[in-house]
Amino acid sequence: MIHPQKLIVPKIPKKNNISSELPLPYVTIAVNNKCNFACEYCPNKGEAYNSSPHREFNTEDLKQMIDILEKLGIEKIRLTGGEPLLMDNLEEILTHCEGKNIEIYIDTNGSLIKERIEVLKKLKGLKIRVSLDTLEKDEFNGICRTYKFDDVIEGIDLAVENGLIERINCVVTKRNINQVPLLIDFCRARKIDLKFLDLYSEKEKNKYWEQYYVDMTTVYEMFKDQIVSIEQDRYTLTYGMPMNNYNLGDITVIIKDSKYGTRYSYEICGQCNCFPCQEGLYSPILSPDYHIMPCRFGKEFQVPITVENFEVEIQKMIRIFANAKLSNEFWKNKTNEVK
Ligand SMILES: C[S@@+](CC[C@H](N)C(=O)[O-])C[C@H]1O[C@@H](n2cnc3c(N)ncnc32)[C@H](O)[C@@H]1O
Ligand code: SF4
Ligand code: SF4
Repeated sequence: MIHPQKLIVPKIPKKNNISSELPLPYVTIAVNNKCNFACEYCPNKGEAYNSSPHREFNTEDLKQMIDILEKLGIEKIRLTGGEPLLMDNLEEILTHCEGKNIEIYIDTNGSLIKERIEVLKKLKGLKIRVSLDTLEKDEFNGICRTYKFDDVIEGIDLAVENGLIERINCVVTKRNINQVPLLIDFCRARKIDLKFLDLYSEKEKNKYWEQYYVDMTTVYEMFKDQIVSIEQDRYTLTYGMPMNNYNLGDITVIIKDSKYGTRYSYEICGQCNCFPCQEGLYSPILSPDYHIMPCRFGKEFQVPITVENFEVEIQKMIRIFANAKLSNEFWKNKTNEVK
């Protein structure tokens, strides 16, 4: 079996022409590194890469960094963690985003939606994505190593009621592949979208990956008869993993299939030990230990940030993303294929 971080991709010529055609990438902020779940596939602290115990951004710093992102024309920010709904200053951050020309998305495990619904309702246009891998309570407890299934389902329904939810995110493994049709029905009943993500591996979770990884073609086969049309959003046409959005008529199902690799910027990826990897340049990631990095696995490229140097460092990062165009032509052809 090919290791997911060592996928074979075609050679792309080394050039260094920065394009002005690409939209700016969205920016991911891992607001904290603590979580009330311990999902068995999740790297410690989710997407917040740092070794310090429980950290989160200082409120004032985060507000200033968001102002800088707005000034630079960033149009979308994704708040993740850890678990972002555990963030003490979430209300203040969301209030600060009110009236800005930036779309805010939150990725959450959903268990605290009920508790924080008033805070979430405060920001007009906020969209949340809830992780849910199974509709079987016992399996949920096993995968997430928590007993909060009922809270998550209630939270999803409350978010639907308040027009807050964009989609469900589901990591598909051998443990929950049988849930694919059930989750599609669940989302249909609530008129929300659904994203199936394949399992990525990190050093600590390699054995898990080997045991549970499922090729996403299997997932596609389970609903392909329901597909009405295929579309791509503007970010999947430019950054990150090439992803198809399958329109099922009433909802959209997205598949993130890492075996197709991604677009690369030689400024970074050409020097990376992981290249070619299972991840890619999606979005600069800010971590609560005050670092910025270009991708989930490229930890050796992380740079320390402060409020003072943030504008310069984020601009450098954006330039790196502008180079990601180099391999676009190849991936455009690849992702336009109807499998
Ligand atoms: C790290 S979590 C952070 C936000 C929040 N705690 C949540 O669970 O949505 C963000 C997303 O990463 C996914 N994820 C975590 N570990 C993964 C892995 N090994 N492979 C694929 N996706 C993973 C989670 O399922 C979740 O949808
Ligand atoms: S809820 Fe999110 S951050 Fe927490 S362990 Fe699960 S996937 Fe990781
Ligand atoms: S820098 Fe990141 S996206 Fe590029 S090859 Fe390395 S791990 Fe992958």
